[in-house]
Amino acid sequence: MFKEQKVLLSGIQPTGIMTIGNYIGAVQNWLKLQDDYLSVYFIADLHALTIKQDPTEFRQRALSFYAQYIAFGLDPEKSILYFQSHVPEHTKLSWALNCFTYVGEAQRMTQFKDKSAKHQDNINMGLMDYPVLMAADILLYQSDLVPVGIDQKQHLELTRDIAMRFNNRFGDVFTIPDGYIPKNGAKIKSLQNPLMKMSKSDPDPNATVSVIEDADSIMRKFKRAVTDSGNEIIFDENKPGISNLISIYSEMTGKTIKETENEFVGKGYGDFKKAVGEAVVEKLRPVREEYERLIKDKAYLLETAKKGAEKARYIASRTVKKVYKKLGLVEQE
Ligand code: TYM
Repeated sequence: MFKEQKVLLSGIQPTGIMTIGNYIGAVQNWLKLQDDYLSVYFIADLHALTIKQDPTEFRQRALSFYAQYIAFGLDPEKSILYFQSHVPEHTKLSWALNCFTYVGEAQRMTQFKDKSAKHQDNINMGLMDYPVLMAADILLYQSDLVPVGIDQKQHLELTRDIAMRFNNRFGDVFTIPDGYIPKNGAKIKSLQNPLMKMSKSDPDPNATVSVIEDADSIMRKFKRAVTDSGNEIIFDENKPGISNLISIYSEMTGKTIKETENEFVGKGYGDFKKAVGEAVVEKLRPVREEYERLIKDKAYLLETAKKGAEKARYIASRTVKKVYKKLGLVEQE
């Protein structure tokens, strides 16, 4: 499909809290890349419905996540920032793509298996269909690049397979997207169990750090972070606790792993944990301040989201129209 500019797209589900894992694995790269692409960032609120939500809390959280997007420095004038549920083309395309996805493929997704195990009382159709909606998100905008953490790699591969399957049958309809997964920081670990990913819905508040958390609380959590035996600040796969803290410090300060190790030669875990906490506080201070200002201005957030959805629909509706025509559905006058 003809495009004037390359397209970048990504999204976050409004569940739990937006963590420093989301920031390091995804948002940091969005910020780096936003000027070089037509950038599309959305709040994946329809995806979040696959888990039970309290409607009042959910609505507030989704708006809060939207404010956090802008507070990070994503620019609603230059980029397209919107709620997935405001753009019905996502579900329109998703239905069509369902008919090009095999049940076996969906069942093989590791996130589907993990989430099914975790929510055994609610293994709903949406949970299995989740990656197809994600494929629709991406393919709607003819996206070239999708910056995400490593946990989304399998979903991206499925997206590519679905797109190629469709193109093989109907010609060049979809751009085949590439993932953009950072070398470092693609999987920030829990502060309480460094063998597990930091997950925004972890029930243990000490395991995660929010991007808008107050300084005292951030410092406290890093002080309590689980580390390994030994006392040296050295990145080592066999020492996941200290290695995770080194990754976080390196991402927050822009220093390499080696520079970080050199900086802390002769220092112990206690000193280092304090330094990591301070680096996180400093890096995120402007985000928190901007967020506090934005969240009070609901009218601005809603107006901005409305404009974002309009821009998104302009592009998305062209893709849906083309796809529906290829499929042989009768055109609507
Ligand atoms: P979600 O909401 O779980 O996470 C948002 C983004 O943050 C990344 N991430 C991490 N990166 C590093 N370390 C971690 N501990 C960590 N935890 C999460 C995720 O990889 C992701 O990039 N299915 C997606 C949302 C989505 C989407 C899309 C993304 C829906 N449609 C289309 C891209 C394109 C999800 O649940 O991400």
